[in-house]
Amino acid sequence: MELKSLRIKNYKALQDIVLTKIPKFLVVVGANGTGKSTLFDVFGFLRDALSGNVRQALDARGRFPEVVTRGHERESILVELQVRLPIAGTPRLVTYGLEIGQQLGRPIVIHEYLRYKRGRYGAPYYFLDFKKGKGYAITNEEDFRKKDEDLDREEQQLESPDILAIKGLGQFQRFKAANALRQMLENWHVSDFHISAARGRKDAAGPAEHLSPTGDNLPRVAQYFYENHRSTFDSILKRMQERVPGIDGVEPELTQDGFLTLRFRDGTFKTPFLDRYVSDGTIKMFAYLVLLHDPRPHPLLCIEEPENQLYPTLMAELAEEFRGYAIRGGQVMVSTHSPDLLNAIQLEEAYWLVKENGVSRVVAAKDDEQIRKYMESGDKMGYLWKQGFFRGANPL
Ligand SMILES: Nc1ncnc2c1ncn2[C@@H]1O[C@H](COP(=O)(O)OP(=O)(O)OP(=O)(O)O)[C@@H](O)[C@H]1O
Ligand SMILES: [Mg+2]
Repeated sequence: MELKSLRIKNYKALQDIVLTKIPKFLVVVGANGTGKSTLFDVFGFLRDALSGNVRQALDARGRFPEVVTRGHERESILVELQVRLPIAGTPRLVTYGLEIGQQLGRPIVIHEYLRYKRGRYGAPYYFLDFKKGKGYAITNEEDFRKKDEDLDREEQQLESPDILAIKGLGQFQRFKAANALRQMLENWHVSDFHISAARGRKDAAGPAEHLSPTGDNLPRVAQYFYENHRSTFDSILKRMQERVPGIDGVEPELTQDGFLTLRFRDGTFKTPFLDRYVSDGTIKMFAYLVLLHDPRPHPLLCIEEPENQLYPTLMAELAEEFRGYAIRGGQVMVSTHSPDLLNAIQLEEAYWLVKENGVSRVVAAKDDEQIRKYMESGDKMGYLWKQGFFRGANPL
């Protein structure tokens, strides 16, 4: 799966933004309050709306009046994604749209749709189209040669108008597009990593194949890698040894009462340190390596300010790891305030946000002629940013 473009309307400070030709690795900068976290939260919002419903996703964010852009309360919130997605074995460029409004004080899905072209020259066709809980989906979409009128439409009424059709129908194999999109959204990872959540002993039972958004299953994932993906675990260790002085080894340890802890070995001392007592940056670096070396990468990974707690010269390697993750099948979006991280990225990967009159706009560095020229002559993104070439990005 690959996110190709994104349109957001009336979602907090993102009143109307469009991102096109999204690279596999995207880094966004911007002054405080310009909407970086909000941008990532849109992905979290979609995932929450899918796992529960739209009302729950809005409630978690202060309800509809708090989420819709100030001054646009009478309008609807729109998220439209264009993704490359395999449907019934064929990769297709699919557009998924979700428009949310309020009716009698309750949030409802005004319009939800999924469309893509039938064949290279065909007009876009709606394979799923729902308004206020009622609509249809196509079940024989792989029969592309059929005429439109021969496609099987199945009319459906959803349980309630705040449920996503891709949730209701996506569980059924016969709705292939809804199914594919649902699976993709379910696997998005919007990191909300907290060092304190990652530390300490954890119950040995529980999800262990992927690091959780907060990182609170770190010892379990480490143990899972240790037992099932030893070469991955070993390359994580090697990188830890290179980056954190004094770290010679990390071992998951199962206690007799069914808890797991991590032990960090320092060659100088005989007794290893429990994860509770090693430094913040040590835990964070280990967690990032576990996240980024996941043998089954998430289709989309969003990480905020990865530079916090880490030594600046490590940023270039971290950028390389993000890029590697994206190439292995996922897509990575990162927000940052770090010139060192920015120095390690390419022209096409850099974006910035500018806030004017309370709403934000997004700028791609590649669209700025001056920045393009400097980069062609060997300059670096972070230096250009610090020198003020990201027009409108600096608050002063
Ligand atoms: N409903 C809304 N309408 C308009 N603006 C809003 C709405 N809700 C929140 N905002 C504004 O959106 C801003 C964007 O915040 P966000 O947390 O995304 O910024 P950020 O770029 O992540 O900043 P930082 O670098 O400080 O983390 C908030 O400061 C707030 O003023
Ligand atoms: Mg933020």
